[in-house]
Amino acid sequence: MALDLRDRITSRLKNLVSAPLERGTRQAITVAIASSKGGVGKTTTAVNLSVAYALKGFRVLLIDLDPQAHVAASLRSEIHSGHGSLTDVLTGKLREVREVVRSSRWDNLDLAGSEKQLAETETVLSAKIGKELILDGALVATRTHYDLIIIDCPPNLGTLTLNALCAADQLLVPTDMSVLALEGVGDILSALDTLRTRLSRHVDLLGILATRIDRRATMVNNTIQQSMGDLYGNHMLQTSVPQCSALNKAHLAGKPIFEFARTSTGALAYAAIADELRPKLGLAPIVNEAAKIATARVTANVRH
Ligand SMILES: Nc1ncnc2c1ncn2[C@@H]1O[C@H](COP(=O)(O)OP(=O)(O)OP(=O)(O)O)[C@@H](O)[C@H]1O
Ligand SMILES: [Mg+2]
Repeated sequence: MALDLRDRITSRLKNLVSAPLERGTRQAITVAIASSKGGVGKTTTAVNLSVAYALKGFRVLLIDLDPQAHVAASLRSEIHSGHGSLTDVLTGKLREVREVVRSSRWDNLDLAGSEKQLAETETVLSAKIGKELILDGALVATRTHYDLIIIDCPPNLGTLTLNALCAADQLLVPTDMSVLALEGVGDILSALDTLRTRLSRHVDLLGILATRIDRRATMVNNTIQQSMGDLYGNHMLQTSVPQCSALNKAHLAGKPIFEFARTSTGALAYAAIADELRPKLGLAPIVNEAAKIATARVTANVRH
């Protein structure tokens, strides 16, 4: 009887003081992809950059913080099922994002999030003290297992996006050539300033990515691109993403562009963006043989 009681107490204590999560040897750089404007290519950019870097041999975690769960739709045939959810992490039931990551068809790419209930989670979080910092705190051990963490954000500046910004080292802002999208860029950059002054969180601007460039609308594009250049100068990425129907079809087919239409202008653009951003992200070129083969495969995919 006494032994039974001791066992029960020991088991209870074990639950209360749970073991620290296993640490890896890496230290991921974390990039939030955000804009308060919808439909500007945030998810398309998050998915295709994640796959591009994973194919190059980097260990990548793609977190979908958008309750619309579009990452799951974009990679639906490639995600393996798993236990637990990001909601469990954000509401404090689980400690680390690593506990809810799911593997994908690519050895180097893991996924987390993509849950419709994140919308309700956002409401629950709004009453919590320090609500903007929960994700950051849940990535401490997780970061040590990856080279790069990419966070896809919802099209607003709510608590989920603020969590992404507080967890991020860098921010990438996609924008199409519309005045509304330009306002979306302004809004997210103001949010960065607010985080810096009110919460002392410093997030670097990785760049502003012009997306959905329609070559037929030359005059409008030129005028807006000119304004963006004047406003944001060196922050504009050299590479832009053209309007490319294959990107839309790849999303509908649930595949990354490198597999759906590897010779399309969209695939070429995202491969070039990955190359342009790699040094800015501090990701050294991979030198081992396996990665060389993976890199060769990506290059071959987009140049055929
Ligand atoms: N360059 C492009 N050319 C053509 N279609 C595109 C391009 N980029 C994205 N799309 C399509 O436009 C739609 C919106 O893109 P995406 O989901 O990436 O935007 P988003 O900013 O994540 O939207 P939301 O704010 O709703 O999350 C999708 O159907 C996508 O396939
Ligand atoms: Mg999206």
